[in-house]
Amino acid sequence: TYIVTEACIKCKYMDCVEVCPVDCFYEGENMLVIHPDECIDCGVCEPECPPEAILPDSDPEADKWLELNKQYSESWPNINRKGTPPADAEEFKGVDNKYDKFFS
Ligand code: SF4
Ligand code: F3S
Repeated sequence: TYIVTEACIKCKYMDCVEVCPVDCFYEGENMLVIHPDECIDCGVCEPECPPEAILPDSDPEADKWLELNKQYSESWPNINRKGTPPADAEEFKGVDNKYDKFFS
């Protein structure tokens, strides 16, 4: 499966949802997650994400985000159309430790 990681927080560009063939993205206030059981591992979303937040679960960086993707994809609503990214998305691109401050 592929996983959404910290780089998505407060950036939330949503280009990813436009290309997913199985619509397995779920939306929180500040980030999206992928449902690990629904993702078919096609990989097409990975290069679409401007801050490179989407990683395969084989990536060591993705490890700690797998549980979170699994958990929140069960409760957050599905999203399959790109909305308007936050006005300040660019400012949060590449910022560290966004999870502690802004996760939701
Ligand atoms: Fe969707 Fe494919 Fe990305 Fe999985 S890897 S979330 S199936 S676009
Ligand atoms: Fe997030 Fe990247 Fe999608 S910033 S909403 S994972 S395009």
